[in-house]
Parts: sequence; structure tokens; C-alpha cells
Amino acid sequence: MSDLKKIKEEFSLKLKSKLNLSEINQVKSDLFGKDGLITSQFKKIGLIDDSERKKFASDLNLIKDELNELIDLKTKEIEIEHINTKLEKEKIDVTLPERNFSSGKIHPVSQTIDEISSIFSEIGFNVEEGPDVENEYNNFTALNTPDNHPARDMHDTFYLDEKKEKLLRTHTSPVQIRTMLKDKPPFKIIAPGRTYRSDSDQTHAPMFHQVEGLHIDKDINMGHLKGCLNYFIKEFFEVDKIKMRFRPSHFPFTEPSAEVDIGYEIRDGKIVIGEGDQWLEILGCGMVHPNVLKNVKVDPTKYQGYAFGIGIDRLAMLKYGINDLRSFFECDYRWLNHYGFDPVDVPTNYRGLSR
Ligand code: DAH
Repeated sequence: MSDLKKIKEEFSLKLKSKLNLSEINQVKSDLFGKDGLITSQFKKIGLIDDSERKKFASDLNLIKDELNELIDLKTKEIEIEHINTKLEKEKIDVTLPERNFSSGKIHPVSQTIDEISSIFSEIGFNVEEGPDVENEYNNFTALNTPDNHPARDMHDTFYLDEKKEKLLRTHTSPVQIRTMLKDKPPFKIIAPGRTYRSDSDQTHAPMFHQVEGLHIDKDINMGHLKGCLNYFIKEFFEVDKIKMRFRPSHFPFTEPSAEVDIGYEIRDGKIVIGEGDQWLEILGCGMVHPNVLKNVKVDPTKYQGYAFGIGIDRLAMLKYGINDLRSFFECDYRWLNHYGFDPVDVPTNYRGLSR
């Protein structure tokens, strides 16, 4: 057998067996490298007799092409095999059942705070915050409630020291003071948060929530207060009309002061807000007392405005039909699961009732 035939048979056989990429590279260099078998045959062409040279050269080229083709085929085969094993290994089994996971619920009070903040932000109020541990000055004195003022006793304050200088804030009104001390007028803010009084029964808890409102500018009057509260209550309870009345009242930090009642009736054992001839008190408000403005270095001859304080828990109870305030703070998982809101499905400005 001629050398060419031997090379061809030997390597065709090899290229049909199982090879990996580096073995293929070895074959390539054995055949076509500098001293490769085929390369050496090409070098021989010049030495061959004239009569045989043409045939030899054409046979050699043929074999070279055939072997190259076999190498290409084998390389592709290996690459495909490689991709297939990768696919096999990385396959995602979509038939697997999903893992069980349980998500928490948003507490109705947090949900209500979100709703209130979203309604007031839509009409230009910024959200402010203040600390739960306050000083006596911000909580009382600056709010025109000096020492020995009878209103201090009404608040059942938790004092934190003997001198009664530090306390748990009894309302969110001190955030009015903090805001006005740190910035310049005009002010248009709400301040939701926790408040504390030593009181506990079905409608009172020692910790509860309020949202404070404050709007101070050059020409703000009680008409603005009424319009703002009317808008808020309608938006919050998702009703087109609301019966609302201002009842004269007294707060040291407002003059005049009022409490706001909204109309309701009981229909089929359920409370319906906005109609009927029963009244429900939901907030306190008034025009900010000039003494309060003076205490925060705002000139009451140039600036005036209104303030209000709303009980958040009461609003949440009314809107979501919860009748014991204490259940809000018992952290009963079953209660939360029932009254809580799905954190994924509820956008922050969700108003809730259409649920
Ligand atoms: N701070 C009052 C309270 O807790 C509520 C209140 C009444 C707040 C009138 C105000 C207001 O800002 O103007 O009883």
C-alpha cells in the first residue's frame, strides 16, 4: 500500500473514533504541522519522477481535502455534543411545584396613614415627622399651654423624669412647633405619628395615632380650613357628599377653635358615613393662636393660618369596620391576616373601600 493510502486509512479511522477537542488538534498537527505527514508528502513532490508527479500531486490534494473535511465534521460534532450536555445540565424543570411562602400584611393603621398622606400630598401638603419623646416646651408651653394650665391635666401625660421636662408626646401638635422653628413661612404640612396618654378602654389606648395639619401663609382663613377638611373627608371615605359641622370648642393653641363632626347613620347594622342624622366627632381644629406664632418667631400681623389634629385609629375603625381599638395593638396574627392589606396588591394611594 502506498504511503498516501496508509495515511488516509489510518487517520480516517482515527477521525471516526471518539475524540475530544485537544485530540483533534493533535491530529491536525500530526497531519498538517511543520513536520506533519501530509506536509512532508507535499515536500516530496519535487523529487518525484516527471511521469508520476501529476498523479501523485492530485492524489495528495484529494486526500488532504478529505482529511480536512473529516476534521471539520468531527469538530462540529464535538461542539454540538458540548452544547447538548450544557443544555441538559442547566435545564429548568418547570413542572416542579413552587415553594410555599407566606407574606406579611400591612397593618390597617399603616394603610390608613398611607392613604391620609397620599390625599393631603395631592393638595400640596408635605409630610413632617417628630420624635415620640418630646420636651415639655414643644408639647405644651410653645403651644400656648403654660405650666398649671388646666389643659395639661386633661392630657394624662406620661412624664419620663421627675422634673417633668421629658415626656411621651400627648399629641402630634409639637411637630407644628418643630416645623416652624426650623423653616420660614409659608408652611403647609401634615405630621402623622404615634401619641401617648395614660388611658385605656374600648375606644382609648395608651398609645394611639394622630395626624397633625398646619397651613400658614399670608391670607389663610377659616374658609380654607373648611374646604380642606371637607375635601379630605370625602376622599378618605370615598363619598361624593359629606354632612359635616363645625362645633365651637376650645384648644389653647387655636382661636377660634372647633371640633368637627360628620354625619352618619346605621343601615342594616352597618355604619354609613356622610348621611343620616347622627353625628360623630372626628377631629379638632382652629386658626393658629397668635401666641403660638410669636413663640416660633413668625409675625402674626403678617402670617396666619389653620391647624387640625385627627385621630387616625378612629378613622381606620370607621372605614374598615373594626370596633375595638385595643385589637389594633394586640399583634394577633389571625386579626392581622383578616384586617391587614396585601403588600403586593395595594398601591400606596389605594383608597381601600373598593376592596
Ligand atoms: N392636639 C389636639 C388634641 O390632641 C388636637 C388638635 C386640635 C390639634 C386643634 C390641632 C388643633 O392642631 O388646631 O386633642
